[in-house]
Amino acid sequence: MAGQQRVLLGVTGGIAAYKSAELVRELTARGCEVQVVMTRGAREFIGAATLQALSGRPVREALWDAAAEAAMSHIELARWGDCVLVAPATAQCLARLAHGLADDLLSTLCLATDAPVYLAPAMNRLMWSHPATRANCEVLASRGVTLLGPGTGAQACGETGPGRMLEPQALVAAMLDDAAGAGALVGRSVLITAGPTREPIDPVRYLTNRSSGKMGFALAAAARRAGARVVLVTGPVALAQPPGVERVDVETAAELHAAVHARVRDCDIFIGAAAVADYRPRDYVGEKIKKRDATLTLTLDRSPDVLASVAALESRPYTVGFAAETCEVEQHARDKLVRKQLDMIVANQVGPGRAFDTEDNELLVLWPGDGRQTFARASKRELAEALIALIASRSGCAAATVAS
Ligand code: C5P
Repeated sequence: MAGQQRVLLGVTGGIAAYKSAELVRELTARGCEVQVVMTRGAREFIGAATLQALSGRPVREALWDAAAEAAMSHIELARWGDCVLVAPATAQCLARLAHGLADDLLSTLCLATDAPVYLAPAMNRLMWSHPATRANCEVLASRGVTLLGPGTGAQACGETGPGRMLEPQALVAAMLDDAAGAGALVGRSVLITAGPTREPIDPVRYLTNRSSGKMGFALAAAARRAGARVVLVTGPVALAQPPGVERVDVETAAELHAAVHARVRDCDIFIGAAAVADYRPRDYVGEKIKKRDATLTLTLDRSPDVLASVAALESRPYTVGFAAETCEVEQHARDKLVRKQLDMIVANQVGPGRAFDTEDNELLVLWPGDGRQTFARASKRELAEALIALIASRSGCAAATVAS
């Protein structure tokens, strides 16, 4: 992590809270400014005076503290942090964050920040392996929250198993290395399109498709985790913004085209994962169309091919397209790769329960010169990680330290 970083350190009510003092020392020794935020439960385990003395800043505890809010409101505090580390993060804390609760200062900060959030879980082994905690961790990870640990070993309750908070030194090293972008795309900039487009017919109707945006969002999160600066241009979707990613919302293919071309010159890699409508109504009817006749004919015009237009730029980024096909997947994808002059195409078979709006997918990736790689069925998150690693290495963008 370059320069001095501001760390919001959340401390929740677990026995491992006694290690938070050491954590503050470790962070400040690495040049970080630390603002401690304790929950009510944490106060049962460690005194605010200790953390205040070590961090050199008054510990924040309550959401409804008029004096503290006047000095720096909780929203300003959320903006202040370059990252949030919650250590220890209890099972209760994971559940609150997974559900987006904002009924105390720490949970509110976690909701009000777009900085990376790191959680160091610490709890009894059965609480850790309980399906409720597993599900909460899944949700948090899918939103781009990084879970550090827990480790396995002897627990304060006398049991042995997973649930021990990682040691402060290991935690700080893992967080700072990650925040420094130890990934393959450090210093690179990636532009990604995602989701469907909507092409209006009249004020209440539009043409669209079944794309959920999940793959594009997973790619944006994975590229960010790999250290890239990421801009995500997305059609209308119901997905949470991956942390640390700049999001640009658009509706139509024309808007998507304009948003991409306003930003494409600065990027090293372009990934067109959006399901852009190929056709749009020629005429937008200003009033709701009435059902008068037995049939209605809409004239549709081709919309701009965003991907092909990026690939055609004189100075173009490494350009990756997607191909959703219902049959002869490989042949259609290879044709598209050549016709649009792409550097890589990612193909998948679509149909009932396949690819669109699913959690899982399987992919076939092709590149010029008969390049070919398949990715077996896996979650979109896992596929996105693997795909970003492949794109980083094939594009020559992979950071020298991690190039394969
Ligand atoms: O030709 P087809 O629509 O199947 O190509 C799919 C690929 O092209 C996807 O990467 C999609 O994002 C992109 N595309 C585009 N603009 C369009 C149509 C498709 O960028 N108008």
